[in-house]
Amino acid sequence: MLETMDLVSSLPEEVLCRILSFLTTKEADLTSVLSKRWRNLFVSCPNLDIDDSEFLHPQEEGKQERNGVLQSFMDFVDRALALQGDSPIKRFSLKCRTGIDQVRVNLWIRNVLKRGVSDLELVLDFPRYGSDGNEDEDYELPWEMFESKTLVNLKLRSEFGVDWWRDHGTFLPMLRSLSIKDLILLPDDLGVFVSALPVIEELYLAPMTWYWDETVSSKSLRKLTVHANCFAEFEDPKSISFDTPSLVYLDYSDYVAADYPIVNLTNLVEARLEVLVTEDQIQLIRAAPDSDEYDVVVIQRFRNVTKLMSGLRNVQRLSLTADTLEVLSLSCDSMPVFNNLKFLNIKSHKERGWQAVPVLLRNCPHLETIVFEGLIHYVTEDCGDACGCISREDKGRSLVSCPVKKIEIRGFEITVPEMKTIRHLLESLPCLKEMKIYAEEDNDPTNLEVLREYELIEMAMKYYGQLFKCDASFIRPGSL
Ligand SMILES: *[C@@H]1O[C@H](CO)[C@@H](O)[C@H](O)[C@H]1NC(C)=O
Ligand SMILES: *[C@@H]1O[C@H](CO)[C@@H](O)[C@H](O)[C@H]1NC(C)=O
Repeated sequence: MLETMDLVSSLPEEVLCRILSFLTTKEADLTSVLSKRWRNLFVSCPNLDIDDSEFLHPQEEGKQERNGVLQSFMDFVDRALALQGDSPIKRFSLKCRTGIDQVRVNLWIRNVLKRGVSDLELVLDFPRYGSDGNEDEDYELPWEMFESKTLVNLKLRSEFGVDWWRDHGTFLPMLRSLSIKDLILLPDDLGVFVSALPVIEELYLAPMTWYWDETVSSKSLRKLTVHANCFAEFEDPKSISFDTPSLVYLDYSDYVAADYPIVNLTNLVEARLEVLVTEDQIQLIRAAPDSDEYDVVVIQRFRNVTKLMSGLRNVQRLSLTADTLEVLSLSCDSMPVFNNLKFLNIKSHKERGWQAVPVLLRNCPHLETIVFEGLIHYVTEDCGDACGCISREDKGRSLVSCPVKKIEIRGFEITVPEMKTIRHLLESLPCLKEMKIYAEEDNDPTNLEVLREYELIEMAMKYYGQLFKCDASFIRPGSL
């Protein structure tokens, strides 16, 4: 060991510091015991990565012992920070899940902010009750964090809901990437939130709760992930605008908004869209809209999703969920043409319809690849001609003009309707060169009946491959 250490010690300083920065702080501290040079290096190491789970094993220790370890963990962090004095620090990652003193945590955060930290990661959870048995005050981050002029990347995580954002006076002029998991409630509106981040490029807010009319407006934003909190009570949905002309990636999941007045996504390359609906709304979509005024308004709102789709029309890669397809069934006659689209991902669900699939395929004149996550969908009279559900004369018409070359089918459940759709796709798509079918992973691979079915599917695919001049294959689970 010591020999190795000598060898290591002869490496140049920058290399050593890089090695140290890959170790967690605890390991680095242990290493530094071995040589004075390492110790000095630790002092000037610009990255600290502190994780209390390396110290504490809640299952293994009694309460008494636990308190002791907790104390020595906090002392260790104090010591590590004190050793470093006021030398500049680049990255600080703090993961505390086991009941660290809030005041201490904030002292540590202030310490690194003062030393100009640019990458800050906080994974914090505090116990509901303090050591005196009383309910603890809600945790508040130090105000310095919201006015930092050095933070570039900020990542915040908590399991039980820490209130991560400060309403007023927040301004982070250097922040390029912000990632918050579980934003309980967006304090102000999204416009104010984003305007406090003038150079923001990546924003990840999932899940989060928002209520009002919102406009995401940013010239710098390139990647945006927003997932509304699905567990939040269904509120009267707001109107949402995206005025983000530099955005290249959008991952958006929310209930249907009343309207999408501005959707400026001129440079968007990839979009993942999940429009959530309640079961009641599904019933409404399927019932022919009658004279009931309320219903008509709801249906109108669903038709407004077209405006969002229209804003996505420049994308090259698009993923749509089963709920989204169902909502789009109301706006088939106003579906935009996706001239740049090369890759389409469609997620199916047995309770959601496929009526929008034919028009989607017709409106993607340069499509190369489709990935179907499941083929099984809700069958109706209007199922359309992209699947094998209903026989009728014009079946397959929307596929004839579709130039797709490659299809992947995942989660294949070995059912007759799926086989019918597979044959229908092979038969009708004129440019199809390759079809890969992946079996549902949940099937029991030792079940003889399942194995027999696999063999049959493999034979069927071989036959189809020859018949339709396509490289068609079936892939058993776990054979990748
Ligand atoms: C989108 O934003 C850009 C940049 O601000 C602007 O030039 C363009 O006109 C906008 N497009 C639409 C459709 O609003
Ligand atoms: C849908 O769009 C129309 C026209 O753009 C707008 O007047 C209406 O308020 C929107 N929302 C609803 C629920 O009708």
